[in-house]
Amino acid sequence: MHTTPEVNHLVDCYLCLVIPTYNESRNIKDLIRTLSHLLNEVIPHNYELIVVDDNSPDNTWKIAQSLIPEYPQLQVIHRQHERGLSTAVIQGWQVGTGKILGVIDGDLQHPPEILLKLLSAIEQGADLAVASRHIEDGGVSDWSMIRRFLSRGAQLLGLVILPNVLGRVSDPMSGYFLVHHSAVNPQDLNPLGYKILIEVLARGNIKQIAEVGYVFQERQAGKSKVSWKHYLDYLHHLIRLRLSLGRLGKLRQRLPLPIKRFIRFGLVGLTGVFVDMSVLYLLHDPTTLAWGLTRSKIIAAEVAIINNFAWNDAWTFRDLALQQQGWGKSLKRLLKFNIVCLVGLALNVLLLNLLFNILGVHYLLANLIAIAAVTLWNFWINLKLSWRVTEVDK
Ligand code: GDD
Ligand code: MN
Repeated sequence: MHTTPEVNHLVDCYLCLVIPTYNESRNIKDLIRTLSHLLNEVIPHNYELIVVDDNSPDNTWKIAQSLIPEYPQLQVIHRQHERGLSTAVIQGWQVGTGKILGVIDGDLQHPPEILLKLLSAIEQGADLAVASRHIEDGGVSDWSMIRRFLSRGAQLLGLVILPNVLGRVSDPMSGYFLVHHSAVNPQDLNPLGYKILIEVLARGNIKQIAEVGYVFQERQAGKSKVSWKHYLDYLHHLIRLRLSLGRLGKLRQRLPLPIKRFIRFGLVGLTGVFVDMSVLYLLHDPTTLAWGLTRSKIIAAEVAIINNFAWNDAWTFRDLALQQQGWGKSLKRLLKFNIVCLVGLALNVLLLNLLFNILGVHYLLANLIAIAAVTLWNFWINLKLSWRVTEVDK
């Protein structure tokens, strides 16, 4: 009656529906049964259900595996070293062979019957069909004011940051949708956060969108996995997309600047200012050691340089430092960093004089420009010289 799974793997099928699960042992069986009955009516043998479970402590994956003999269209991916809704969905899509990619929650909060409406929307030519709580026939069952507020607030924030992406659908937070494989390349999707639909809208080539109203059901069993961390991830996700899309993103792709490193380098620089000031105070202040100014300043600067080196080595350039371990190599990096910083200091004084004495710039503004220029110099030369990874190990 049914084809065997081995045959299914070889033959491309129509629908690849991914079900991400984490501790859904009490829901998975019902869901697989309902989905199989529905799909056997409309596209028998022409779909695959892929459960992607992240080693749930409640053994969801084991239960899912035990269902395979009864439901041969089912596959189970048991991930042992990864956690996360979006990465789970993407991995499922990569394993699947379907022409249409889809996702549905594993907790029965997404009513399975809606799937048929989504399928017919795709059949009618949509590239993407989204189940939405915010159009006719849509809604949420019994949500508190605070939950509604948070959900809408998140959507609003997204609309402000990425109007052209989130504005295309009424429910961009939906995790229940189908999309043409040809309109997205799972490899291009960035697996950060919970909201995979936003990623599909932003990076896919989606022309026609259809929406189907649905009521988000109350959870009957198990718990939601959403935590505060997910809200932070969401914000991070929005900002990352903002930076990688549009004109700014295209420029950055052509000109890949190490912005993250530079920000870290700048922050470390600020700690250096603090160290320098403190040491200078300790050595030079009349109430403390009262040493001479020049001697105190040289020591203060040197301590700050060592402080900055330590932070940069352990944080800013950590990945590069890990490729060149050992005391000898660390010492060499410290020496180079020290020299670059001292040259930077000389440049700083030179530039300040040039701007102030020759160009007539106000001395504070001149100092600001000099600091900015030297920070760039320090960063760049240190990246290219002090932390450079050489092919040949001398
Ligand atoms: N594999 C895997 N790994 N699955 C996960 C993980 C994970 O780390 N975290 C959650 N899941 C699974 C859950 O087991 C469930 O099947 C589904 O992802 C959704 O997780 P819930 O924790 O139930 O989320 P929710 O109900 O609060 O939020 C849902 O609400 C939206 C409506 O705005 C999201 O899942 C959206 O997809 C949904 O549309
Ligand atoms: Mn849920």
